[in-house]
Formats: sequence, structure tokens, C-alpha cells
Amino acid sequence: MPTIKLVNVSKRFSKGSLAVDNLNMEIKDGEFVSLLGPSGCGKTTTLRMIAGLETPSEGEIYFDDTCVFSDEKGINVSPDKRDIGFLFQNYALWPHMTVRKNISFGLENMKWPKERIEERVDEICQTMRIEEYKDRYPAELSGGQQQRVAIARTLAPNPKVLLMDEPLSNLDAKLRNDMRAELKRLHLTTGSTFVYVTHDQSEAMTLSTKVALIKNGLLQQYCPPLQLYGEPENVFCADFMGNPSMNFVNCHGKKQGDRIVLSTRSFECEFTPNDKIDVPQESEYVLGIRPEFVNITEDGLEATVISSLPSGMETTLSLAVDDITLAAVAFGSVDFAMDSKVRFNFSGNRYVLFDGASQNKLSLGSLKVIK
Ligand SMILES: Nc1ncnc2c1ncn2[C@@H]1O[C@H](COP(=O)(O)OP(=O)(O)OP(=O)(O)O)[C@@H](O)[C@H]1O
Ligand SMILES: [Mg+2]
Repeated sequence: MPTIKLVNVSKRFSKGSLAVDNLNMEIKDGEFVSLLGPSGCGKTTTLRMIAGLETPSEGEIYFDDTCVFSDEKGINVSPDKRDIGFLFQNYALWPHMTVRKNISFGLENMKWPKERIEERVDEICQTMRIEEYKDRYPAELSGGQQQRVAIARTLAPNPKVLLMDEPLSNLDAKLRNDMRAELKRLHLTTGSTFVYVTHDQSEAMTLSTKVALIKNGLLQQYCPPLQLYGEPENVFCADFMGNPSMNFVNCHGKKQGDRIVLSTRSFECEFTPNDKIDVPQESEYVLGIRPEFVNITEDGLEATVISSLPSGMETTLSLAVDDITLAAVAFGSVDFAMDSKVRFNFSGNRYVLFDGASQNKLSLGSLKVIK
């Protein structure tokens, strides 16, 4: 399986600004990489450039040591020579062909021997758990079954790289969940490299070995999903990952030895960075607090419950501390009366301090309430 490398890749469409802005990333053999970001950020364009369906304006793309695109060297290897499978959002199956034929058709075009085709169709139908539908037509299948046929068809020729553009977006929530599990299993059993486009952070979180979070054509962070969640490089990344979202509190900070005393509109606390950081004597900051790190306790700061949404396993709370609102998560089957008073505290060292001006992460650290 190849490693895919993008070097200074940009794409400018004739009208408009840069759809992809100087992208550098390496997708290693066997990885499951998600391209994640808001609508219009350049995910599909990036995937299509890897596939060879879109020509970059600048840069180079490598599959291992083979250059498949270079504007300077005038190289542009056609999509059919890149050994990739491509699964679009609208996975059009041939309506007049059975499942079996839908899958074998491409292999016949590639001039596979007849027996090998039969063998492969059986094999892939087993993997995708669609054996019993082989002689049906697409119209006789549910959405999820059709989706599995589409994936089977894409996987049949054993592509080394599988590119998928929001393949689950047409499915209902339950099916989408089942298919997610299926895709993850498939990734492990095929050993292929998956590049997966989604705008759904939880999908990227749960499936990928690495997530590339993109904003306006610019790569913001490229790392394993839990790292993206726990150590976001900037406020955008922090805000994009997680539901309920991270709390952001603007504050003024004064350095006090290794610590920073942070004054918010309603409370004061002391931030101790996990690693030494170099900050001015006084500065503006944004403090990032994940809802699960707002702990409802006996002591601590008082807050008013604005809303309480129990889901059985956990309860999402909205708390007002004077004029600051904080989302909190309480684990277990608990509920809180609206307008009741609770107390909360901070614990652990996973609070994130961002620079107020650049919105970039300065450090993770622990937080102690002063008043
Ligand atoms: N053929 C085209 N001609 C001109 N502009 C285009 C073309 N294709 C895409 N764009 C622009 O490039 C930018 C990136 O588009 P792209 O389709 O890659 O976004 P995306 O991240 O896949 O979004 P979505 O989540 O909505 O699918 C957008 O601003 C879009 O309008
Ligand atoms: Mg898209």
C-alpha cells in the first residue's frame, strides 16, 4: 500500500479564491484519514486531486516515491493509473443490473478472468454481508444494503487506496452508525489506506486513525482524533471537535511566577501550565474548558442551572455564573431542577489556554478557582 504525500498543493478555480491553500500532508500506508471541516473548506477538492479527477494549480502529489502530479515537472498521471477506489456521496448503482453484475461489471472491464471474477464477487459479498442479495436488483434493497453494494463494488478490484466522499450522508442515523462500524471493520480487514471526507466531527472522531481539520482551504491540524480533541492547536479546532462544544471564556491574565491569574467577567482563577510557557506580564487570553471538566461538587463556585438535559448515560447542563454561561456534563442518570443552585469545581490538567489575539493554543494546564 502506498504512502500518499501532498507537497505545497494549491487549487484555485477560475472564479474565486483558493479552494485549497498550500496543503502539505502525508497519508501513511494503512491509515484511515478523515478530511474534516465546514462546508466549502476544500475537502472534496482535496480528495479529487488525490484521485486525479481535479488538477491542482500548484504543487506535487506522490504515491510512495512515484510522482503522480507535478506542475513544475508537467506530470499528471490519469485517475485509472493511480490504483484507487472512489466512493461518492451519491453511489449510483446500475438499476438494470443485479447486485452480482453491479460488482462484476468493473472487473470484466478490467479483463479479469471469469473464474477469478466469480470468486472475487463471492468473497467481497461475504465481507460486506450481502451474499443473500446477490441476485436482487438495487431497487429491491434498502438504502443501507445499497450502500454496502456500492462499497463492495468499489472494493472488488482491491484498490490500494479507497477514497470516500461523505458516503454515509444519505443514510438515517441508525444505519449510519451500523455502517460506521462496518467501515472501521473493513479498514482493518482490507489493510487498504482510507481517505474519508466528512463534515461530521463525531464520524471523524470515531473512525479515523488521523484527522485533517481544514478551514477555508487551510489545514489547521493533522493528528490522531483524541489529540485533536484534547490538544487543539487553536480555538477553531477546539470549537469544531466535541459535542457539547468546549466552553470559551475571555479573560485578562497576570503572570505570577510560573502561574497566570485569570480574571473573567465573573470569577477569578489560577492557571498552572503543564509546560513552561513564555508570556507577557499581562495579556488577554481565551480559556478553553471542556464540559466534562466542569465538575458538579459540594464546594466550589455557585451557579444557576439554566437547563438540564438528561440522556440516561449523562446529563448536559447549562450553568450561569453571573453573566458567563458554561456547558457541563454530569455522568450517570441525574437531573437538576431549572433555576436551582449548584456548585462546581475544576480538576485535572486538561484546560487549554489560548492567546487572546492569535487564538492559538499556548498550553494545557490545571485550573484553581480563587473567587
Ligand atoms: N468546479 C468548481 N468551480 C469553481 N469553484 C469550485 C468548484 N468546485 C469547488 N469550488 C469551490 O471550492 C471551494 C471548496 O469546495 P469543496 O467542494 O472542496 O468543499 P467541501 O469542503 O467538499 O464542502 P462540502 O462539505 O459542502 O461538500 C468552495 O468554495 C467551492 O465553492
Ligand atoms: Mg464536499
